[in-house]
Amino acid sequence: MSIKIDKQQMRRAFEKAAATYDEVAVLQQEIGDRLIARLGIMKHKPKRVLDVGAGTGVCAKALANFYPRAHIYTLDIAHSMLLRARDRMAWWQKLIKRHSYVTADAESLPFADASVDMIFSNLAVQWVDDLEALFSEFRRVLAPGGMLIFTTFGPDTLKELRESWNKVDNSSHVNEFQDMHNIGDLLMHTRFAEPIMDMEYLTLTYKDVFGLMRDLKQLGAHNVTHDRQRQLMGKQHLQKMIQHYETFRADGVLPATYEVVYGHAWAPAGQIQQAEDGSHSAVIPLQEIKPVKQV
Ligand SMILES: C[S@@+](CC[C@H](N)C(=O)[O-])C[C@H]1O[C@@H](n2cnc3c(N)ncnc32)[C@H](O)[C@@H]1O
Repeated sequence: MSIKIDKQQMRRAFEKAAATYDEVAVLQQEIGDRLIARLGIMKHKPKRVLDVGAGTGVCAKALANFYPRAHIYTLDIAHSMLLRARDRMAWWQKLIKRHSYVTADAESLPFADASVDMIFSNLAVQWVDDLEALFSEFRRVLAPGGMLIFTTFGPDTLKELRESWNKVDNSSHVNEFQDMHNIGDLLMHTRFAEPIMDMEYLTLTYKDVFGLMRDLKQLGAHNVTHDRQRQLMGKQHLQKMIQHYETFRADGVLPATYEVVYGHAWAPAGQIQQAEDGSHSAVIPLQEIKPVKQV
């Protein structure tokens, strides 16, 4: 399942965006807060937490506060993002040395098999071309009983902008996003247990289309698909797109819809077995099953 991201271009865009990202990442921070809030009901106590696509480290810092005894590995493909993440930590957090910063590609993690207890990722999964490779890599580095928890964007994200560009030409102007059902299937396929997916819509509003386009650029989140329009955009094309976008105006503002997808799944504590009907089950050694306390 491939979404045709130009990885070099994507990395360059995020390297450049590191300086402006925090000013405009309101939605990203809101979704990050919502994802962190979910950890409260998980009862998972990881010792080693890996934040994949950590950006400027807002969530990594929240993870360090949430799991004060854990070692936090903050990973991003864009080095300049990680420099910001390191600066963000409080002096005492720097002093206790429970943080590592890793510039690497999530599709090829520089971690040993079964070496972390939790993988957390807020809004980075949608930037990876091959989700099957990504989840296989996550599964490889997660220790038995480890948890993967993440957010990504679904296909309705920026639907107004996509539809408006579709009125102009057939080129790709907006990144493509995967359906959450496909993502859930891929988690099963890559031998994760008990995947749970859900979604919600969040809408940002803008005075004009330029405001939205400016935000996307400052976030580093403009179109980086291989078949994107590469020539300079004619004024008439842009005007036509804007004219169509204006038809979405309501209560004096332009909406930008985001389909936010939440997922979590587990690396089974035992060895996974596949049945003839395609379902999976885990075989857990008897000594690892804790007896239920009788009252
Ligand atoms: C939208 S930002 C989210 C940042 C942060 N998680 C947050 O909540 O603000 C996506 C981040 O994922 C990183 N990223 C994208 N593809 C990646 C990959 N293949 N490996 C590692 N990081 C990646 C980008 O460099 C960027 O910093």
